[in-house]
Amino acid sequence: MRYLPCLLLWVFSRVWGQSEGQQENFPFRCLQISSFANSSCSRTDGLAWLGDLQTHRWSNDSDTISFVKPWSQGKFSHQQWEKLQRLFQVYRTSFTRDIQELVKMVSILHYPIEVQLSAGCEVYSGNASESFLHVAFQGEHVLSFQGTSFQKAPEAPPWMELVIRVLNGDQGTRETIQQLLNDTCPQLVRGLLEAGKPELEKQETPGAWLSKGLSPRPGHEQLLCHVSGFHPKPVWVMWMKGKQEQKSTRRGDILPNADGTWYLRATLDVEAGEVAGLACWVKHSSLKGQVMILDWAGGRQLSAGAIFGITAGVLFLLSCPVLYCVWKHRRRLCHFYQDIL
Ligand SMILES: *[C@@H]1O[C@H](CO)[C@@H](O)[C@H](O)[C@H]1NC(C)=O
Ligand SMILES: *[C@@H]1O[C@H](CO)[C@@H](O)[C@H](O)[C@H]1NC(C)=O
Repeated sequence: MRYLPCLLLWVFSRVWGQSEGQQENFPFRCLQISSFANSSCSRTDGLAWLGDLQTHRWSNDSDTISFVKPWSQGKFSHQQWEKLQRLFQVYRTSFTRDIQELVKMVSILHYPIEVQLSAGCEVYSGNASESFLHVAFQGEHVLSFQGTSFQKAPEAPPWMELVIRVLNGDQGTRETIQQLLNDTCPQLVRGLLEAGKPELEKQETPGAWLSKGLSPRPGHEQLLCHVSGFHPKPVWVMWMKGKQEQKSTRRGDILPNADGTWYLRATLDVEAGEVAGLACWVKHSSLKGQVMILDWAGGRQLSAGAIFGITAGVLFLLSCPVLYCVWKHRRRLCHFYQDIL
């Protein structure tokens, strides 16, 4: 892959003043993944994220929930956290047993079985919050907890009716879930937002570079714009011709770097003769309203980079006689002093 010379221009343009993703919300999401290979072999793993940062991990092999961040306990006291952890330990054991019982009861169910549970909440300004709890069975959404009880998903198989009747008949479980969703989750999240504030609001400026991809078809070129090392995740990247957005720009997925920052690639396929004047524009909250512009300098057109280079060259050439004169003059001065001494 050939890296073409590129130029970074900072455009102090307040037109783009609304930085991308400025007022970011941080939903808290817990994911439970349970795999039942057969009637005696199963595992359950858990993960939790606040926004796009992972905060907790709970391996099947561990009795305790691990903190991924130093602030993962939020503002909970040690006792509060211990109580919550005990609740989840009991839940994990009974969940495994309940699924095994269910498979015995419902003749059409066979191992292997995959159950995924996604639950969490998002807090808003004031005291407002919103919570959710969804369950997937063999990859299909089968039920959710809504308000005060479990509800069947529209696409769920008929035998789910039985499960929902059993679950909703358990008053204690329903009350515990409401407490977790309505109170515990928002309280934990408020603490996490406070304790993790420096990391959550960390602004990392992207670096960017251009390269040429494999030719998509004869007579065409693929231009790649790589943007990397930015945080938070929301970013705007677009191939432009002058001020014209190139709507055929294709964005890849935003991928994680190892250091907690993000990477994104934007691709444009163009006819070989049409590359002049193309530039990749990047907008990100860390740029504080400025736009990062990378010119595709491979065309016939003189880019600002070339203009800068030529100007610097001309200035250097012009300065040569002057420097030569100074040098000559110094020599003459030296001789003059030597003559005196
Ligand atoms: C927010 O809600 C909690 C209970 O969930 C309550 O104790 C607290 O007083 C409320 N705060 C405000 C400002 O309404
Ligand atoms: C929990 O919130 C739901 C609405 O989301 C409400 O219907 C329910 O009564 C609340 N339960 C408790 C125990 O606060």
